[in-house]
Amino acid sequence: MESISTFHFKRLNDYTFIIFFLPCFLCQDCPSPSPSIPLVPEVLTFLDQRLAVVYPIIQTFKNTITSDPFNITSTWIGSDICNYIGFYCDHPPDNDTAIALASIDFNGFELSAPTLDGFIDQLPDLALFHANSNKFSGTISPKLAELPYLYELDVSNNRFSGTFPVAILGMKDLSFLDIRYNFFSGRVPHQVFMQRLDVLFLNNNNFVQKLPENLGSTPAIYLTFANNKFTGSIPRSIGDLSSTLTEVLFLNNLLTGCLPYELGFLREARVFDASNNLLTGPLPCSLGCLEKIEQINLAGNLLYGQVPEVLCALGNLVNLTLSNNFFTRVGPLCRKLIKSGVLDVRRNCIHYLPKQRSVHECLMFFLHPRFCPRPLSYNMIPCSVTPWRHNPRTSWKRNSSAYDALMRHRLL
Ligand SMILES: *[C@@H]1O[C@H](CO)[C@@H](O)[C@H](O)[C@H]1NC(C)=O
Ligand SMILES: *[C@@H]1O[C@H](CO)[C@@H](O)[C@H](O)[C@H]1NC(C)=O
Ligand SMILES: *[C@@H]1O[C@H](CO)[C@@H](O)[C@H](O)[C@H]1NC(C)=O
Ligand SMILES: *[C@@H]1O[C@H](CO)[C@@H](O)[C@H](O)[C@H]1NC(C)=O
Repeated sequence: MESISTFHFKRLNDYTFIIFFLPCFLCQDCPSPSPSIPLVPEVLTFLDQRLAVVYPIIQTFKNTITSDPFNITSTWIGSDICNYIGFYCDHPPDNDTAIALASIDFNGFELSAPTLDGFIDQLPDLALFHANSNKFSGTISPKLAELPYLYELDVSNNRFSGTFPVAILGMKDLSFLDIRYNFFSGRVPHQVFMQRLDVLFLNNNNFVQKLPENLGSTPAIYLTFANNKFTGSIPRSIGDLSSTLTEVLFLNNLLTGCLPYELGFLREARVFDASNNLLTGPLPCSLGCLEKIEQINLAGNLLYGQVPEVLCALGNLVNLTLSNNFFTRVGPLCRKLIKSGVLDVRRNCIHYLPKQRSVHECLMFFLHPRFCPRPLSYNMIPCSVTPWRHNPRTSWKRNSSAYDALMRHRLL
């Protein structure tokens, strides 16, 4: 394969360009040219100059791809870039009559390449880059921050490593960031939570740090911290997300401390999952203010006390999983939910219910005195609740973007 460093542009009119290539450039399998054959120019006509500009960038990248099980790149031939599989064109924001490469969707292509540097950072009109389930590696180029229109970046389920890509901090207009299922390690810079992100998926990496105190500064609707090594407690600032945060997943980390009263401020929350951590203390009664909540999972922690009746009264709950804790009591509303299969309190210390921990196990747990800060806050209810509501419950599984993020592959 010859290098394409020898191409030239020649302007014919506003829409047509000629590129000269070595003869075998577009033909993967032809025999090596004999030195006696003169160079024959390949003529390529592009719809727009912007496409002519990105053509050599794409071809250079194509040559770095080491594995392509679905033969995707076999379609990356010729001047019709808008019909290459995975590439999408549109009018760029700065010119209604121009045609530019606006988005790339490589989801599920399983392409391997050692780096994306020199590729996506060189596509000036790119607005979306989605590459779930490929085998791209290396780091994320800081030059990405110079792309003026990029607002969605999904490199989930690849082989990126190193620290959190700082390039992202320079992307002022990024609204969707999905870096889950990679090998990123170290810390997530606190500045990320000050960006205008709607979606932030960090799950299934190797982040090791205290949950950032300024978590409550993010305007994100969907947040996933799951399956990392986040420590510390859920910061009280989470209550600042009252009008935005819809789904948040903290499951399978090393979180400690008590649940903050401020969780009850999350009036848009539909999904809250902090299961399999080391959280302790009682459940704040403020949880009874989560009017829209559908799924709460706090299984596998060190929580104790009574399951608040105000929580069991919430009309939209379809799944309240509290198994594998040390709760000691449930009231009549919660019992109803146990009966209907909404509430799971297996393996707790509620001695009058079946499938509980042994008396010994419970005794050992309660031998250690445990305290939460601001103990009075656990009984406070920052809303007017009507605890005897009986809204109809639907038991079918609701959609959840955050739970979908726990699957390696993006669902189409
Ligand atoms: C891809 O192309 C190669 C060579 O042309 C062929 O052997 C292989 O079967 C193709 N694979 C698919 C998935 O189409
Ligand atoms: C907009 O794009 C068209 C097509 O590429 C081009 O002919 C025209 O000069 C551009 N206009 C501006 C203001 O750049
Ligand atoms: C509730 O959620 C838990 C944890 O995600 C799940 O294992 C369980 O099957 C769900 N229960 C119902 C009734 O959907
Ligand atoms: C769930 O997702 C499906 C497919 O995306 C959609 O058709 C359906 O309306 C969604 N349901 C809800 C309750 O959002």
